[in-house]
Amino acid sequence: MAQVLITGGAGFIGSHTCLVLLQAGHRLVVLDSFVTSNPASLRRVLELAGGVASERLTVIEGDLRQPSSLDRAFSAMAGRCDAVIHFAGLKAVAQSVHQPLLYWDVNVGGSTQLLSAMARNGCHTLVFSSSATVYGFPETIPIQETAPVLPINPYGHTKAAVERMLADLATSETHWRIARLRYFNPVGAHPSGQIGENPLGPPDNLFPYVSQVAVGRIARLQIYGDDWPTADGTGIRDYIHVMDLAEGHLAALEVLWNEQPQLLTLNLGSGIGHSVLEVVRAFEAASGRTVPYGVAPRRAGDAARSVADPSEAERRLGWRTRRDLETMCLDGWAWQSSHPDGFSSQASNP
Ligand code: UFG
Repeated sequence: MAQVLITGGAGFIGSHTCLVLLQAGHRLVVLDSFVTSNPASLRRVLELAGGVASERLTVIEGDLRQPSSLDRAFSAMAGRCDAVIHFAGLKAVAQSVHQPLLYWDVNVGGSTQLLSAMARNGCHTLVFSSSATVYGFPETIPIQETAPVLPINPYGHTKAAVERMLADLATSETHWRIARLRYFNPVGAHPSGQIGENPLGPPDNLFPYVSQVAVGRIARLQIYGDDWPTADGTGIRDYIHVMDLAEGHLAALEVLWNEQPQLLTLNLGSGIGHSVLEVVRAFEAASGRTVPYGVAPRRAGDAARSVADPSEAERRLGWRTRRDLETMCLDGWAWQSSHPDGFSSQASNP
């Protein structure tokens, strides 16, 4: 049993990863500000983990940028932190354009504080939540990890900056064990429908938008462009089921613990691209609902295609995605239909 600090553990990817780690027998301390997440997710995680899992989860409300919050989190581990998984951060591209300093402060400043606290507490194993956004407009599809890092918005700049900081650290102090995981498009939910994505306000991303249209919370989807150079004219992305992604984090931790200190940089994606229209059709089939849509102009900053080459993650982690688009939609619908208003849904929050 390892002790792992999870920053941002109440969020979408964080909560699913907490469940996978608890089920693998680890002890967790979650540090979360709950600014963009809901503590109810962690209560659900405990219900799903069952048994005596509650003895292996400590939740601390705090902000990474405050050393006192980090001190409380490390104290809760009584001097033994075997690894940190760092999810905490802001991720809305449009908001980052309007509030760049906030993004640099939370995402980069928060990471700097975290790394200092890890060093003070003798913990040198880190899995960092990065993003395919660091590739900007990729020249070659599928995208390999060796592709240029050229982000095109402040959110992407902060992810690339933390990646750079981690590389500098790994060069200067060779005992660090670090994985930089570049996620493609995480979607879906735990198949129980008890935890899932819970965006505040109207969603920015396609999948939660489609599911809120299907459940009747939003009237219609706007497809951002049907004139892209793709087979049906709509944008293509590499969607990854959040449970596959969560399992990828456990696989990365095990490799970091079992191998020599190293800096790993890996794409976590399926390697399969789906268009916006394919997602709409798959969601309609899974939910039995119609998803009305219109076509709007292209969204600024979008690329026609983003698809991972996941072969390096398969080779290094012995991990690959197992859940297809249909499963992503069925599980996403299990969550959305039972929680039309997310964690604040009355019916599901007795
Ligand atoms: N789309 C629509 N209508 C919507 C929302 C999205 O047509 O209401 C389209 C987009 O144009 C794109 C596709 O659906 O073609 C996927 O868009 P998302 O916003 O769901 O995802 P992105 O690929 O644009 O971006 C996401 C995250 C980023 C992250 C990136 C990683 O928002 O933070 O994946 O590749 F960096």
